[in-house]
Amino acid sequence: MKSASTDTSRISVSAHYTGYIWYKHGLSARGFVTRAGQFANATLAPVNALLRALAGADIDIFLLQRHSVIDHQVKELIEKEGVTQVVELACGLSPRGYRLKQAYPQLRYIEGDLPGMAARKKALLEEVGLVEGHEVRECNILNADGPASIGALLSDLDPTQPTLIITEGLVNYFELDEIREVWSRMASGLKAFPKGWYVTDLYPDFAEHPSYRYVKFAQKLVGLFTRGQWPLHYPSDTAIKEGFQEDGFDDVEVHDPASFYGKLSHLPEVKIQTLVRIIKAGISR
Ligand SMILES: C[S@@+](CC[C@H](N)C(=O)[O-])C[C@H]1O[C@@H](n2cnc3c(N)ncnc32)[C@H](O)[C@@H]1O
Repeated sequence: MKSASTDTSRISVSAHYTGYIWYKHGLSARGFVTRAGQFANATLAPVNALLRALAGADIDIFLLQRHSVIDHQVKELIEKEGVTQVVELACGLSPRGYRLKQAYPQLRYIEGDLPGMAARKKALLEEVGLVEGHEVRECNILNADGPASIGALLSDLDPTQPTLIITEGLVNYFELDEIREVWSRMASGLKAFPKGWYVTDLYPDFAEHPSYRYVKFAQKLVGLFTRGQWPLHYPSDTAIKEGFQEDGFDDVEVHDPASFYGKLSHLPEVKIQTLVRIIKAGISR
């Protein structure tokens, strides 16, 4: 039996919703849609309408902003830094691996998630077409060791190749102390490669931010939906950077989606200030 503290499968429901959003906005294939995702999208439609009226932006926009900027960072790392191996943790029903394998067939792409979600994703990818070099594995980011740990996934990769870990929509489900332990394990695991990077989204605790009330609203909504906490992390971009450096990363970039306005094709622009940051943290041996 799994211990209560590492069984975070209650969070998996959220992947159905985001999976549907990627499909709805043309980023995914029909095979990634689940009934739970369609249901969540319909249920949240009134909330989205209210947010559009009050804030001029809805949940879809906030999700698309993070997804699009993460995609951009990943493509740059593949094209400019020679990344050939990608481990996407907490992959859920995200089509990123499917899309990237079409664009870069030479990539080794490992998707990881908790057992139930990993089995679902594997079956779904087999339906839409699972190609060579693309796998789905069980991985619990909270496991410090063992076959479903981050270390186990990394140890199956080629240690001579530049390697990237991605998480999206994951880190704010954990208290800062807990997720920092995971980040430290990622940093030390990536040291096995000549160059390693970690790319993630992060919702900060910018209390002075003009859109703060919308983040606090999202915090309650996500907490209700996933029956748990959704803590915000770090009060500033500088604090984020210093935190990741303390966790073992050398080069840390903190990106505001607004700095990419007009430059990325799937990046919606809003008048209010953005709520999310994208972190690119690099490490060399
Ligand atoms: C909000 S969903 C994000 C899914 C996907 N990354 C996306 O953006 O569409 C959160 C994901 O985290 C996964 N998850 C929750 N706890 C986890 C853990 N301890 N280890 C690995 N994955 C976990 C869930 O199963 C779910 O797929």
